[in-house]
This record gives sequence, structure tokens and C-alpha cells, in this order.
Amino acid sequence: MKGEFYIIGNSGEKTLSGKVVISGAKNDMVNAFAASLLMKGDLFVRNVPDVSDTEAMAALLSSLGGSVKRTATHEYKLNTGACAGSNLRGDIAKSIRASILYAGPLLARFGLVSFPFPGGCVIGKRPIDLFISGFMKMGARVSEKDGIFSIRAPRGGKIRGASIFFKRQSVTATETFMLAAVCADGTTVIKNAACEPEIAHLAEFLNSCGARIKGAGTSMIEIAGTGLLSAGKKIYDILPDRVEAGSFAILGALAARSLTIERCIPAHFEALIEALIEAGVDIKAGENTLVVRNSKRGRPFRAVDVKTHEYPGFATDLQAPMAVFLTQAEGEAIVFETIFEGRLGYVGELIRMGADILPLDQHRIQIKGGAELKGREVESPDLRAGLAYIIAAIVAKGDSVVHNAHYIDRGYERIEERLRAIGVKIERKP
Ligand code: EPU
Repeated sequence: MKGEFYIIGNSGEKTLSGKVVISGAKNDMVNAFAASLLMKGDLFVRNVPDVSDTEAMAALLSSLGGSVKRTATHEYKLNTGACAGSNLRGDIAKSIRASILYAGPLLARFGLVSFPFPGGCVIGKRPIDLFISGFMKMGARVSEKDGIFSIRAPRGGKIRGASIFFKRQSVTATETFMLAAVCADGTTVIKNAACEPEIAHLAEFLNSCGARIKGAGTSMIEIAGTGLLSAGKKIYDILPDRVEAGSFAILGALAARSLTIERCIPAHFEALIEALIEAGVDIKAGENTLVVRNSKRGRPFRAVDVKTHEYPGFATDLQAPMAVFLTQAEGEAIVFETIFEGRLGYVGELIRMGADILPLDQHRIQIKGGAELKGREVESPDLRAGLAYIIAAIVAKGDSVVHNAHYIDRGYERIEERLRAIGVKIERKP
């Protein structure tokens, strides 16, 4: 499913209505696939999003010798009993940053792993120094030749538990070392660990299979090495995508009479909800639903400053959609992207659409709200900014074309169908 999206904007009218059901989170799906390498038998995974990153994770696991069966829509059966190799296939591994998650359990299980510098969305330099130093702390030797990293466990083939302090909180590094530590000798402590819900969820699942992980979801995680685990009858149920849910909340505020967002966990994107409430958006959050409404005589939204932060702060993945929201609010706001140094690259196209945005430096922009957006032809630079462009195109006056649909397909399932169902005029063209 490639191509581009054609969107007819609604000129700022709040006409959309209905409900959207949130898909499983891409960033939890990757954990389930990586966790399969720690399982003795079958691992059943449910609520798997039908997105191209799932295909990439599945293809990589198959190329390692794993069995990947799609048992139903959104369901997979994974079995890694026949995995023998531990070289991550370069072409696939380079296309998705999360491919590096496989490195942890592969190293722990086979004593060696090799992989290319992982790819993914271009939103900054995205180095892998935390991974390299972590593997070395666990006793592994690391070498690099022609862009391929080879990591080898010490003599005896087993990595050792270690105390690993991350100089930056990293989601994927936290997950990778949690997975590696399950099959290491001894106990590992991860300090300054990331606290995202997907990390706690992965730990909870591993613990239900016999792992001994304490503290996941906080900045200090302790993992006692236990060896391979038994999933038994347990099923990895992928969490609802908090970024997708948050993006729909923004869309609802900008363009809907009433939008119900179902099967989401509002507690996982509270920072966004609070920012929208502060801006004057009418939001009602339940345990698993969120309703956004606009009354006919609603007042304009107010500008709020946004600073991205590790969880539970304002998610960097919601920064671009929030910037689109702020182009429509009254007043001036500063958006400060603190996590990635290349995540404001989408701003130029929004300015071409009529947004009043002043780039201040690599990390900060100033948005003057109340601008009328006009339909344009734009190129998505990455997944999350791609959806932000779709939201901008929906709000705009006139027609837009959003190119690079393949970025959006990495993380959003059948986005055009789901948007059409709430009244968006959108089509995909090959
Ligand atoms: N970092 C380093 N060295 C490392 C690893 C990370 O300096 O070895 C830096 C990064 O460059 C960044 C910061 O640490 O400046 C945090 O990055 P992190 O490692 O947490 O990002 P990630 O694990 O690669 C995950 C999500 C991203 C999301 C970020 C931040 C997955 C598969 N990806 O990436 O999601 O933006 O955390 O929350 O979980 C997306 O879904 O579109 C996406 C990019």
C-alpha cells in the first residue's frame, strides 16, 4: 500500500463525527516480536496492528529461522525454536530502528549477534552508543566492520548481569537490555531507564511467563537472569496506540462536532489531554474512551506552550500534530522539542500551507495561531509528521496531496478508511 493521499479540506469547519477504534501500538508490537526470542514454545500475539513495521519485524524474525504465522486478522503465532542464526538481515534491519531490539535476546541466547546501523524515521542522529556500551558492560566484545556491528558474549557464550546507567533515557535501549538480561547470568540493574507504558507492559508479560523483573515503568529496573521462558497459554495483547489516540483527539478538537475515541488508554497520554484541556478543548476521558466535542458557539482555543519530555511528559511523537493544533489556537505558543534534534523538519511545509511559524533554533519554533491553512501538495518527512500533515490538510481550505504514504503506513492502519468513516474526504491514489 503505497502512493499518496488526496484530501479535500473542510476550511476549518467542525463537521466530522462518529467514532474511531484505536489500533494496537506499533511500539508495543515490536516488543512482542522481540520477546518471542525468549520463549520456549509458541507465543500468541493479539491486537497486532496491520502496518508495514509489523511486516518488517515479521520478515526479520522469519529470516532468523523463526516461524511467523498470521492466525487471524491482528493475530500472530510466533515460534523461535528453530532459530539458529543471529545475523540480522541488513536490508530489513536498516529499514526499521526497532530491529535493534532483536539484538538483546539474540545475544543472550546465542552468544553473538550482528546487525547494521538500524534505520527508521529520520528525526535526528539516533546513535546507538547506549546499546554498544551496555553490551560491553554485560561482558560482550563489540567490533564494527563496513557498517556491520558484531557483538560477542564472553568465553562460555553467556552475557553477564551488569549495572547499566543510561546517560539518556532511551525507550528501545531499556527494552533491549531488559530482554537481554532475562537470559543473562546474574542480575542486571538498569538505571535512568525509560518509563514508557510499553516498557512496563513488556515486563509484565515477561513476568507472567516466569521472568523476574522489578521496577519496570520506573527509572530503575532490576532483572534477575532466569533463562528462556514459557509463554504457556499466555497471550501478548498489544497495548492500544497512545500516539494514534492522541492524534485523533487533536483531529477531533480541530475538525469534529463530536468524536469518540474507543479502545484507548487516556492515562497513557495524559500530558496531551491536559494541554488540550488547558487550551479550552472539551474532552471527557473515561478509562478506555475519550470524547472530544465542539459546540456551535464554542470559543476559540487558546495557545499553550509545549515541551516534549520522556514519559509521562508530552510525547515527542505527538509534537507535530500538536503544532498543527496550535496553528489554529488564539495567541502565540512555543513548541520545544527536547528529544530529537531533527523533529521539526516538517515545519517548512506547514508554513507553505499558510501556518505562521517562526523557527527559533534546531529545537524550538514559535507558532502564531489563527492562521488559515490552504491546501497544498506536501511530502511527509516521517510517520508522525505525515499524520500531522493529514490533519492540517483536513483543516485547510482546498485540496491537498500528502505524498509518501508509505511513511504513514508504517504505524497507522488503513488510515484513509478510518478517516473516511468519520467524514473526512480522503482517498489514496497509487
Ligand atoms: N539515544 C542516544 N543513544 C542511544 C539511543 C538513543 O543518544 O544509543 C538518544 C536518541 O537519539 C534520542 C533519545 O536518546 O535523542 C531518546 O531516544 P529513544 O532511544 O528513546 O528513541 P527510540 O527508542 O529509538 C522510541 C520510539 C519512537 C519515539 C521515541 C521517543 C519505538 C520503536 N520507537 O524510539 O517512536 O519517538 O522512543 O519516545 O518505540 C515513532 O513511533 O514514530 C517513533 C519514532
